[in-house]
Amino acid sequence: MVDSLARQLFSDPRVARAKALMLEALKDHQGRISGVKPPDQALRAPYEEVLQEFGRIRAGNLFYPYIGSGIGRGPLVELADGSVKYDFISGIGVHHWGHSNPVLVEAALDAALRDTIMQGNLQQNLESTELARMLLDAARATGAGLKHCFFSTSGAMANENALKIIFNERAPADRLLAFDGCFAGRTLGLSQVTDRPAYRAGLPAMLAVDYVPFFDPEQPGESIRAAMNRVKSHLARYPGRYAAMIFELVLGEGGFLPGDRAFFISLMEVLKENNITILLDEVQTFGRTTQLFAFQHFQLEEYVDVVTLGKLSQVCATLFRAEYAPPPGLLSQTFTGSTSAIFASRAMVKGMLEGGFFGSDGKNARLHQHFAKRLSELEERHPDLIEGPFGLGTMIAFTPFGGDPAKTNRFIHALFDAGVIAFYCGADLSRVRFLVPAGAVTFDHIDEVMGIVEETLIGVAAAP
Ligand SMILES: Cc1ncc(COP(=O)(O)O)c(C=O)c1O
Repeated sequence: MVDSLARQLFSDPRVARAKALMLEALKDHQGRISGVKPPDQALRAPYEEVLQEFGRIRAGNLFYPYIGSGIGRGPLVELADGSVKYDFISGIGVHHWGHSNPVLVEAALDAALRDTIMQGNLQQNLESTELARMLLDAARATGAGLKHCFFSTSGAMANENALKIIFNERAPADRLLAFDGCFAGRTLGLSQVTDRPAYRAGLPAMLAVDYVPFFDPEQPGESIRAAMNRVKSHLARYPGRYAAMIFELVLGEGGFLPGDRAFFISLMEVLKENNITILLDEVQTFGRTTQLFAFQHFQLEEYVDVVTLGKLSQVCATLFRAEYAPPPGLLSQTFTGSTSAIFASRAMVKGMLEGGFFGSDGKNARLHQHFAKRLSELEERHPDLIEGPFGLGTMIAFTPFGGDPAKTNRFIHALFDAGVIAFYCGADLSRVRFLVPAGAVTFDHIDEVMGIVEETLIGVAAAP
């Protein structure tokens, strides 16, 4: 059989030996990371200098004094000041298999031997086609009618591409519906969708978006009626003008609020009757519920028209039904992703599908149950300090200090100093959220993190 030169290179025994050697070295060095550790005294001053310089260069200090050293071990990461922390926010949902994961390092080593660092719309390698096929096969496995996959390098760009093909198909409809508290990205266009006035301060209005209240688990029936009434009144005010409604099935930045199947179906039925496209933004939910796609968790396959994904997928993408196929020229970008991101994405999607992450008793569900149980116990011990848990799957959150945003901010910074990286979310940023790196954590890690959370809560509560 004729083999390409590339295949001969990739199967060269020297490559296998070199890879094995590098992975062995990684294992030895990361093996010395055993738990949370404070900064090394000698590295404190130079680290502080780098932080200050970085703040000047980027015209604003970093949110956390985080500069990684380049090594970690699962959920533990070493910073350049020698400290080691639990990363339970994973770059806001990206490092889902932890730090220095050998499977991903091996994928990156394989990618490093390919001819290009980046791939783009003009020139892509075999692995791009394979990844697109994998994502589509997985999305269609339970019946969704998605036919195409278009890559991009950010969740916002995946959403921009989604809106372009939808407006193109639905023209002259030019308005959108979205949920109160939604987050869709930060481009000029998407900052009009994202429901936070501060994120569009000073920007020209470019898109007309009308909002619908999200599901309220305390009043399910009432919240369905409220959302339906709002949709109907928007449709009556602008007949024929709505191109799409954007759904986050679990509000992410909005506070880790899961929706509900009956709620979604009620809305989706009305949208379908009115020829309005259903766009599911799965940039944050992809891989984190009991199924690869949250629309599979909520069994919404028949309603899905366009889906976007990103973050833990490493490569972002827009999946869509046949009728949304773009005319030439409408979609393109120089980059589709880095070769290492494409290799890592393939490994992670395959690993999650075959590695027991999904299903009602899969790893995601079990991690959630354990974490939620620990949070409930914490709430029982300190009902004045926390309320929770909230979230779904590996998206998990609680509200500290009765929802005081300033104290929540103080708490997450104190938690960072104590060795756990989390972040905030919610309408007024008063909720603490974790994006659990499911490919790397054990129950013991969660227990240790919860110990640090409890100590820090008590410390912050007692501080003047
Ligand atoms: C639901 C959702 N959509 C879109 C985005 C934008 O993704 P990116 O930051 O990669 O542009 C985010 C990012 O947090 C998100 O959570």
